[in-house]
Amino acid sequence: METQKKRVFSGIQPTGAFTLGNYLGAVRNWPLLQDEYDCIYCVVDQHAITVRQTPADLRKKTYEAAAMLLASGIDPQKSLLFVQSHVPQHAQLSWVLSCNAQFGELSRMTQFKDKSAKHADNINTGLFTYPVLMAADILLYGTHYVPVGGDQKQHVELARDIAQRFNNAYSETFVLPEPMIPKVGARIMSLQEPTKKMSKSDSNEKSFVLMTDSADVIMKKFKSAVTDSDGIVRYDVENKPGISNLMGIYSVMTGKTMADIEKEFDGQGYGTFKTAVAESVITALKPVQDEYNRILADKAYLESTLKDGAQKAQYVANKLVNKVYRKVGFAQF
Ligand code: TRP
Repeated sequence: METQKKRVFSGIQPTGAFTLGNYLGAVRNWPLLQDEYDCIYCVVDQHAITVRQTPADLRKKTYEAAAMLLASGIDPQKSLLFVQSHVPQHAQLSWVLSCNAQFGELSRMTQFKDKSAKHADNINTGLFTYPVLMAADILLYGTHYVPVGGDQKQHVELARDIAQRFNNAYSETFVLPEPMIPKVGARIMSLQEPTKKMSKSDSNEKSFVLMTDSADVIMKKFKSAVTDSDGIVRYDVENKPGISNLMGIYSVMTGKTMADIEKEFDGQGYGTFKTAVAESVITALKPVQDEYNRILADKAYLESTLKDGAQKAQYVANKLVNKVYRKVGFAQF
């Protein structure tokens, strides 16, 4: 008998252009899982409104996020791809889970603390219960593994705690999920302040590379990357964060080890190294960019793909919600 593949689920917020950091740390790895696992990928627009969005922009970015996932290699024949708000079961399960999540544990989430400090004028309760909706995303589909960046590990662990608590209270219902954190490329740092994570919300545009940046712009951004003054290409995150970050990017792009890279650029200046890193990025992004533009221009294809994904997701999610509703004692006829 064929053993069933384990389930993978991940989500991405449609809140802006994708950076090289998003791509290398997350999106690029997702298609690689498609054969080994039963994968579900979701554009989480409901999470996005925990921070005020311009409606037209959110809509546009939802399409863009889906197009980027497809362009990166997610194959709708193999994996499910859909938009969170198209599957109402996420919000439905979220309510039940929120009644099984403690105020205290949500208060300890570091992302909540960071975001509420950053958006002090809009600390809405959605921002607070954000991890509960994320737990619903994950638990709805019997997820075993959740590929995420290190900053989301705490949220996946919370989902697991909530699942366990529910199982103990009501009998075995949810699979206990585990985070799946890529070793390399998980944390791409800012090109200007390499001790900070690369982020599209950074006010300095030179600090991040966007997936939609042209070759010229990518080259310029890498050439102006902040490094150090000792002129040696050596991997040392502590003392040489800038060079180490560039080495990390180059390593993911070329498959070379840190030792290989040190040897390759031995005795050469940072200029040569930076150019090589930029070129590796430009070459790797070119096919993704071309495909992204093609898909984004084909709205009918994009919409039918997302519609199909949502239908299939609803089918799975609905069964789980019914089961949960029955277990908690909601009357069903
Ligand atoms: N919170 C995640 C992020 O900001 C996005 C997300 C929402 C997610 N739901 C998810 C990731 C479920 C993995 C699984 O990156």
